[in-house]
Amino acid sequence: MKHEGEKKGGGLVGSALTLAACYFVLCLVCFLMIVINDPANWTGYFLENYTDLITLAVCALLLCAIVYYYYYFEDRAFVAQAHNVVLVFSLFIVCIAMSYAFGKLIDIYARPCALFALLCVFLFNRRQAILLNFIFSVMMFVIDTYTNNFTAEGATTQVYYSLMLNFVCGTFAIFAAAGAKTRGGLLLTGCVISIPTVIIVTLLQVPVIYTEPVVFFISIGCAVFGCIVSGILALSGLPIFEKIFNRLTVFRLRELTSTNAPLLVRLKQEAPGTFNHSLVVAQLAESCAVAIGENAELARAAAYYHDVGKLKQPDCFTENQTDYNVHDELMPELSADIIRSHARDGYELLTASHFPKIIADCAREHHGTLPIKYFYNKAMRLSGGEADVGDYSYLGPTPRSRIAAIIMIADASEAATRALKDRSPEKVEHTIRTIIEERMDLDQFADCDITIRDLSVIRQTLVETLSGVHHHRVEYPAIRFNRDRKAVKEEEKR
Ligand SMILES: [Fe+2]
Ligand SMILES: [Fe+2]
Repeated sequence: MKHEGEKKGGGLVGSALTLAACYFVLCLVCFLMIVINDPANWTGYFLENYTDLITLAVCALLLCAIVYYYYYFEDRAFVAQAHNVVLVFSLFIVCIAMSYAFGKLIDIYARPCALFALLCVFLFNRRQAILLNFIFSVMMFVIDTYTNNFTAEGATTQVYYSLMLNFVCGTFAIFAAAGAKTRGGLLLTGCVISIPTVIIVTLLQVPVIYTEPVVFFISIGCAVFGCIVSGILALSGLPIFEKIFNRLTVFRLRELTSTNAPLLVRLKQEAPGTFNHSLVVAQLAESCAVAIGENAELARAAAYYHDVGKLKQPDCFTENQTDYNVHDELMPELSADIIRSHARDGYELLTASHFPKIIADCAREHHGTLPIKYFYNKAMRLSGGEADVGDYSYLGPTPRSRIAAIIMIADASEAATRALKDRSPEKVEHTIRTIIEERMDLDQFADCDITIRDLSVIRQTLVETLSGVHHHRVEYPAIRFNRDRKAVKEEEKR
């Protein structure tokens, strides 16, 4: 534990230094804005307005500090990784640059006011997106106020418009995006937030509706354009951030769980038994995740890929064998080594294929450090009781997330109940209870924050779901029909 704490402390120092570097990049962006706004006399602007620029620098520093402290208290593990700090500030810098470019080239209302909020809600979560969008709105307000972005008449009013649009439309976008599960849905969100945006712009433009109707309609057009552009830019920017920072979004999960995903196609063709097993485990894991309030899509994706390590030697695993079992000819040490290596092979394959870390971790952790009973038993028989259980156990680590724990239990439950002759709910319940208790006795859940209550809910869910998956069919009557569609009893025919 002390080691973990030291590691996290070191990470926090590293991420604080990264934050300082990001702050300087942000200052550099503001400096560039001032130079672009007034290329002929930017030095004069600096000399005349140095107090404003100091205020801007201090305000930006305070806003950066608020972001850091928010994560420090809310999600220390997140902020302890420097690349997450870089991700948050890359979003700030990209969106500030976009807002500046659209405001400068088209109109202040054409700024993609919901872009930052949309990127944040898909790359992080709703709570973080609301806080970050608030900070972004204030940051943009401070930049507009203390730089020469708006110098014409009515500049102060425009700066307030921008603050209002960024904050209100961004927050609306966060809630509107809740239902977007596809990339098309994200585009639609951009269109939907045009409605509150048009209302806000209309309210802001009330004084000019009758006096300058053309200005009013141009503003409305620009505001709708800004919302649609927010959706389009978020759609094109998300895959870039997903890829560079290896972030898991709902869209990426959808792509990974599509039956056309390359690794799943390989699994279907090269290890059909494992593929079918993974589908059932995915169904079970999804139900369990819903029951304990975990991410169901993530549980499904992790279950689909938990056994991909078997692709290395698919014929060595029972579910892909027909009559011939290669282990009949192998020493139990070698057999156990082949079996246990599928967890590590899966992790390596998924890491090499740039899968999200949590999915690769689930593949490595789904057997924890459990013994491979069949081969340990065989070794004990052959050696007269001399076998060491460590040589016949998975290499671990044990599950470190609730999702990995769900996969571990669902995987074992699927395999165990499939082998049952009597699949009455009582028998299934007894089997799953034994599986969970055995894993608790062997400390398999010591490194993840799953509770006894979660385990109890998972057990009940698995009993209900497995009773549905492996239900007994009503026995078909022994009747066949002949060509004249007349029923003939099977016995009579024989
Ligand atoms: Fe496995
Ligand atoms: Fe499995």
